[in-house]
Amino acid sequence: MIPISKPLFGPEELRAVQAPIESGWVVQGRYVAEFERRFSEFTGLGFAAAATSCTTATHMALAALGLARGQEVIVPAFTWVSTANVIEYQGATPVFCDIDLATFNIDPIALAALVTPRTAGIIPVHLFGLCADMDRVMALARAEQLWVVEDAACALGGFYRGKHAGAFGDVAAFSFHPRKSITTGEGGMVTTASAELDRLMRSLRDHGASRSDHARHQGSAAFMLSEYDVLGYNYRMTDIQGALGCAQMDRAAFILSERARLARRYDELLRGITWLRTPAVPAGYVHGYQAYVCLYAREEPSLRNVAALHARRNRLMARLEAQGIATRQGTHAPIALGYYRNKYGLRVEAFPNAWLADQLTIALPLYPQLSEAEQDSVVAALSAGPDA
Ligand SMILES: Cc1ncc(COP(=O)(O)O)c(C=O)c1O
Repeated sequence: MIPISKPLFGPEELRAVQAPIESGWVVQGRYVAEFERRFSEFTGLGFAAAATSCTTATHMALAALGLARGQEVIVPAFTWVSTANVIEYQGATPVFCDIDLATFNIDPIALAALVTPRTAGIIPVHLFGLCADMDRVMALARAEQLWVVEDAACALGGFYRGKHAGAFGDVAAFSFHPRKSITTGEGGMVTTASAELDRLMRSLRDHGASRSDHARHQGSAAFMLSEYDVLGYNYRMTDIQGALGCAQMDRAAFILSERARLARRYDELLRGITWLRTPAVPAGYVHGYQAYVCLYAREEPSLRNVAALHARRNRLMARLEAQGIATRQGTHAPIALGYYRNKYGLRVEAFPNAWLADQLTIALPLYPQLSEAEQDSVVAALSAGPDA
């Protein structure tokens, strides 16, 4: 079986996770701090604080920005459900925006029309590793005095006009789930250029403590508990994960360059397959290729033919699975998921591109260990045609 994705681990990762276990300190400590330092250095993103996931990282960003009931936040209608869920956690309201079907990212023209007096911020998503159109998102945010939290879950190695994903908004959040380029099992990172937001988010991830357990144990009067002046959470990454993250940082440049090489190879090999639209990379963008997501376009997709195309796409994916090749839908459209559909009475027809992406995307296997022979067999299976 050729899986959709595979983490790249070796003896270095095994040795790395042993170190905190041998030391006896396994909660957030020196290895998490080292992982944060190396992540910040690699991305150039200033302050970086690790968390248990991208979801919790994004949630503490919204809490730090003071998002409250009655406020609205604009998110793309095609993204992982957690992008919207974190807004709900604060009692605020996600407002969904349709996407550009060529990039799978938020449509900046539709975005501008959704701003209301209740809008507090925007969460653009750099889906699959391709940055959203951040010039236009930031221009709107500045004009309307909105904050921006970048959902950069997929975006390690993604650049826009020479800057790493996460360099544009007030805060950005990254994921280290095993489907991402580097992994700590579960894990996330929140980055910001603001020392004040960094301080607040570090406190929020630690029950609202004014100093971390590690700092308390290192200093004098370790017997005195911290002050707790804000309502916080336990979103701390363990040092076992921090150590794993350090070992993964050693590989990050290699992993990203191999993913980019294999993506370029797919681009070449799939050029003749006109019914499959390969990922767009507009001028000025470097794709991070967290995933290689294509659109099944046997005919020009529309709301009229999407059901028939969806059924055909599923048959194709089932055929590939029977041939030992795993594929996946790119991600989902939260507007079509029960919680959001029922709570807000949403109709997919109002978000046509998000719905087409939900129904017609196909992610192909992509990971550094994927051999060219395996990649060739994926392409050969696709070359048999769009119909199973
Ligand atoms: C766009 C996007 N946002 C957020 C997340 C959530 O990341 P995590 O699983 O680390 O919470 C994901 C994970 O798949 C994602 O793809």
